[in-house]
Amino acid sequence: MKKMNLGSSKIMVPAVAVGCMRMDGLKAEEAASYIEGCMEVGANLFDHADIYGNGECERIFGRACRLLADGSSEFSRDKIFVQSKCGIVPGKMYDLSRDYILKSVDGILERLDMDYLDMLILHRPDALMEPEEVAEAFDRLEQSGKVRYFGVSNQKPMQIELLKRYVGQPLLVNQLQFSLPVSNMVANGLEVNMTTDGSADRDGSVLDYCRLHDITIQAWSPFQMGNWKGLFLGSSEYPELNEVLHELSEKYNATDNMIATAWIMRHPANMQMIAGTMNLRRMEEISTASDLMITREEWYRLYLAAGHILP
Ligand SMILES: NC(=O)c1ccc[n+]([C@@H]2O[C@H](COP(=O)([O-])OP(=O)(O)OC[C@H]3O[C@@H](n4cnc5c(N)ncnc54)[C@H](OP(=O)(O)O)[C@@H]3O)[C@@H](O)[C@H]2O)c1
Repeated sequence: MKKMNLGSSKIMVPAVAVGCMRMDGLKAEEAASYIEGCMEVGANLFDHADIYGNGECERIFGRACRLLADGSSEFSRDKIFVQSKCGIVPGKMYDLSRDYILKSVDGILERLDMDYLDMLILHRPDALMEPEEVAEAFDRLEQSGKVRYFGVSNQKPMQIELLKRYVGQPLLVNQLQFSLPVSNMVANGLEVNMTTDGSADRDGSVLDYCRLHDITIQAWSPFQMGNWKGLFLGSSEYPELNEVLHELSEKYNATDNMIATAWIMRHPANMQMIAGTMNLRRMEEISTASDLMITREEWYRLYLAAGHILP
């Protein structure tokens, strides 16, 4: 598995992280064997959020880690990097107030049955956020040893700039949805000064901003179509894309998800991908693909086959 620096830090992490949003379907024993398998292929960064499965994903993960720690001398907390997110109050509002962040982290740690989080991520922007309060929460969490590093998710450059004016800790990551079909952040950098769909700047040039400021983009839902419409792999909505994926899979003796992974990894922004599979065979495939280098021509072929245009 390819390793990379996390943001501007010296922390080395795997290029493919394990998304735990769908872990609530597993029993603790199954989750333990999945976690162990992921670690064996080098995928030791686990992504959570307090809302995944209503907290159940963190609970199952915590139980699974306990099982691993009790059953094997190989496993210890410091061998994994655990990140979680807070700030979404489902169906109701967003809340990045100081007290809500502090309370959320206590809940996360209790469910994970852990003393600290490697990274806390603000899940979504909150219209009523007061950055001074976020800064206070981060200081307290850092000083108490409950959180080591911090990041954001689904944020525009100016929102990050606003936070950075108050927050002392570096913001190491910005989690953004990114996949072959969901790549407007690439399209608007290509369709400059045009009136096409892709030309719309919906994110404030977040891709270039993150590169300029050494913020790692953690690409979420890398195999999904967007708007929770499901998987593009094998979907009749993307016949041309699937055809090219098959063709390149044959060429590289790989699988379609490996080619879709290689497409994300080929971008020089050095993104980290968060894969949400709970199937170890698929995770093994995806982690291998972090070393698969497709050509420039193939990258553009896949991009066009996903429905984008080149002006
Ligand atoms: N920051 C945010 O706002 C945000 C939002 C959403 C998600 N996330 C993070 O991103 C992670 C990934 O999201 P996601 O689960 O939507 O991403 P994904 O990796 O695109 O999708 C995974 C889903 O696709 C299924 N799948 C079916 N065939 C597959 C194949 N050939 N290869 C790979 N997967 C296949 C998997 O099922 P199997 O388990 O059967 O393989 C799983 O249900 C989440 O776990 C979460 O940590 C963050």
